[in-house]
Amino acid sequence: MPEFSEEDIAEEEKQFANVIATFQQYASYSLAANNRRRKDVYTLPQADREALLKLGYLNKLKQVDEAIIANAQFLGDIIADSDIFGPGVGSEDGYEDGVGEELAEDGSQSQHQLEASRDPRIRPQGQHSHAHDHPPAPSHSHSHSHSHPHSHQHSHSHDGGPRKPHKATDGDMDKVRSTLKQFVRDWSVEGEAEREASYKPMTDALLEYYKHKTPEERKKLRVLVPGAGLGRLAWDVAKLGFSSQGNEFSHYMLLGSFLILNRTNTVNQHTIYPYTHSLSNARNRDAALRAVQIPDVLPSTLPDGIKFELIAGDFEEIYGADEDPASMIMEPTEDGIPPEPHAGLWDAIMTCFFIDTAKNIVNYLRIIHRILRPGGVWINLGPLLWHWENNSTSDPSIELGLDEVLELARGIGFEILEVKTINSPYTSNKDSMLGYVYHAAFWTATKKAKPERASGLSSAP
Ligand SMILES: C[S@@+](CC[C@H](N)C(=O)[O-])C[C@H]1O[C@@H](n2cnc3c(N)ncnc32)[C@H](O)[C@@H]1O
Repeated sequence: MPEFSEEDIAEEEKQFANVIATFQQYASYSLAANNRRRKDVYTLPQADREALLKLGYLNKLKQVDEAIIANAQFLGDIIADSDIFGPGVGSEDGYEDGVGEELAEDGSQSQHQLEASRDPRIRPQGQHSHAHDHPPAPSHSHSHSHSHPHSHQHSHSHDGGPRKPHKATDGDMDKVRSTLKQFVRDWSVEGEAEREASYKPMTDALLEYYKHKTPEERKKLRVLVPGAGLGRLAWDVAKLGFSSQGNEFSHYMLLGSFLILNRTNTVNQHTIYPYTHSLSNARNRDAALRAVQIPDVLPSTLPDGIKFELIAGDFEEIYGADEDPASMIMEPTEDGIPPEPHAGLWDAIMTCFFIDTAKNIVNYLRIIHRILRPGGVWINLGPLLWHWENNSTSDPSIELGLDEVLELARGIGFEILEVKTINSPYTSNKDSMLGYVYHAAFWTATKKAKPERASGLSSAP
């Protein structure tokens, strides 16, 4: 587990508080944007205004207001549990005195298990790690990036004085809006087409690779889903009877998946209006004002005896620590948390629209290779939309083509078993006249067993 300085921790707490503030400001921000449309109507000549009134345009704007208010209620439900990251962390005024209680003596965040009595769980682990680790919003307008860049305005003074409340930026709000669309992808009936195009080929490949395993044996197979977003792929894997661990570092995603996985009791419990923020490309009113119900399944309906959890934190920091597996303590820790699988112990790693979040793809592939069990399978789908390309924060970005990524993977020690193209939309609005489909690369690969050490009898080098 990586060590964090007090500054890292304070920065992380601040970023989290900013995310909460962004959720809280969603309604006023979005209503103001819609009000702009209303005002614009009154700048027009009367005859034009009347023509719009006849169309019911002002009525449509009223419906947009209502949809925003419904979304705000849902977002309020999401942050109602913001203390999953520690008491006071997310609240504006609890910031100063809430932090200390969460810190262990060495200054690191105490690693505690959330919702210990329930499955699934979200466990904060190394969750301070990504304070500066987010790309700026990519220039691609159709980006699938959900890496959620945080703004870095300081909202508390270094002398410990009161901090100004964070004022959410357009970029922050964009992340809230993306999160709403991501709920459609992961947890609605409407998202099924997208899941069929992305998650299904991956779970099919997993089932095929381990088809010789009995259901009992399957429970013991450990599958890791880095960049798990709102958790559906990891949940699907668990539903199939594998032990599954998602990893995610975005607070937006972690808060959202916590609500769905741990605070949802019925199918279609929540209603959201994910497309209400733009009236462009709409074929009809429904395109922007359509209600979407979530979730399409009851998250608690997982098979008995499997382990399913989401681990909060940066993939490279959590799984990339340079550990010697032999030296790892494999006993449960004092608070009963079972130990993590370590190097060479994951039976499958499923990366969906994830590997292009790397600043350094070489390191990502090395980590995936190191933590995979020899003979285990790596299943990937994604379009290599490098998240850090053209970043304005002077962060490194290595942008390889598919051929280069595959060659690199082979060089690192993977045997590529299959490569194909799968057309995959990503958080697209089915009723919009604008849509993007990624011609995403799908592959399966296995970690080659280490060559035997040359013995005296062998002629191997
Ligand atoms: C494009 S989204 C894909 C989400 C999901 N796999 C899907 O297919 O819908 C990439 C996800 O990876 C997460 N992510 C990016 N870099 C990460 C990192 N270093 N550690 C953990 N999660 C990361 C982002 O927050 C985001 O949720």
